[in-house]
Amino acid sequence: MFDVETIRKDFPILSRSVNGKLLVYLDSGATAQKPECVIELVNRMHREQNANIHRGVHHLSEEATSMYEAARESVRAFIGAAAREEVIFTAGATASINTVAYAWSEKFLKEGDNIIVSEMEHHSNIVPWQMMAQRKGAELRVLPFDDEGRLMTEKLDELLDERSKLVAVTQASNTLGTRPDLKYIIEKAHAAGAVVMVDGCQGVVHGGVDVAALDCDFYAFSGHKLYAPTGIGVLYGKQALLEQMPPFLCGGDMVDRVSFERTTYAPLPLKYEAGTSNYIGAIGLGEAVRYLQGLDMRAVEQHEHDLTAYAEQLLSQVDGLRIYGTTEGKCSIVSFNVEGVHPYDMGMILDKLGIAVRTGQHCAEPVMQHYGVTGMCRASIAMYNTREEIEALHRGVERAVRMLR
Ligand code: ALA
Repeated sequence: MFDVETIRKDFPILSRSVNGKLLVYLDSGATAQKPECVIELVNRMHREQNANIHRGVHHLSEEATSMYEAARESVRAFIGAAAREEVIFTAGATASINTVAYAWSEKFLKEGDNIIVSEMEHHSNIVPWQMMAQRKGAELRVLPFDDEGRLMTEKLDELLDERSKLVAVTQASNTLGTRPDLKYIIEKAHAAGAVVMVDGCQGVVHGGVDVAALDCDFYAFSGHKLYAPTGIGVLYGKQALLEQMPPFLCGGDMVDRVSFERTTYAPLPLKYEAGTSNYIGAIGLGEAVRYLQGLDMRAVEQHEHDLTAYAEQLLSQVDGLRIYGTTEGKCSIVSFNVEGVHPYDMGMILDKLGIAVRTGQHCAEPVMQHYGVTGMCRASIAMYNTREEIEALHRGVERAVRMLR
């Protein structure tokens, strides 16, 4: 049985006050709060078990190394990757996507080729591709969405051709909540000979992923949105592709032999893990995964879905309020604006009431341009949120509107 009050007890920050009010944290899409078990393990690593991984025969180093590799195995199983070679720890989703953008483009992107990105991507899944397209003389094409927030996948037929090399698409939009039909997109892209990079930042949190079943070529996510520490992320890539790609960052741990004449590289996954990696973050991520696996994830998803529907129902009653992204099956993100109210003013008044939402462009400026707005307010709902918090948001929005109009 899913019990939100039991879950809340695992997250110490939820009992703090902000501006004299009990915190209502509705910004988990930006970063999620951390359960006690993750906080505790990260503390213990620093206090009792810290030593650099893959670099020593001494006890502490071996202990940290085996915990790091165990975390990799947990993540591998969690995302359904076939092999540990396909699971690379990075600094976050941005680092993961940039790694693919540089290393894959270096090998596979040629002048006259094209890359397709969706209009609803986070900047992290646009800008690296734009930069590499400019560098290589390739074209960047855009798969649009409609006003409801539905990705217009039927337009793929017009966009894909024999020079299409990669499609970059989100599993769930961080602004609209839309979950594009990835299966369809991947099949279409593969039929045209293109590979697919999926941004799983929001998607992996809400419903998880099975990369093998999805058959995506690359998949990226950040730990901090998945109840793990900041500064750790994952890049999944199909082994056959990763093997053909050159390294990206170079330095310690990613090499096999080094001499001034010639350097050979470490096998996967270390080939893409140059330097001292954030091993404590990775171990924290492994713990967050273990925590999630102890929950009934279907029930968690249902809870988030119910709260999202409740938020949409209450907020729709506010005069002049528009919700952006109303597709069926969206994830638990509710972006909105109220006519005549600037989103920053709304965000500041909500903050005075102890309610944290994100305001601004959400690192998705093309989405703002689509709707002709300079910013939006965004409530992003996690498993530890409650109906009472959604009601507090609704009351706060009503109050802000009364004050600001
Ligand atoms: N990418 C994060 C968000 O959507 C920060 O808020």
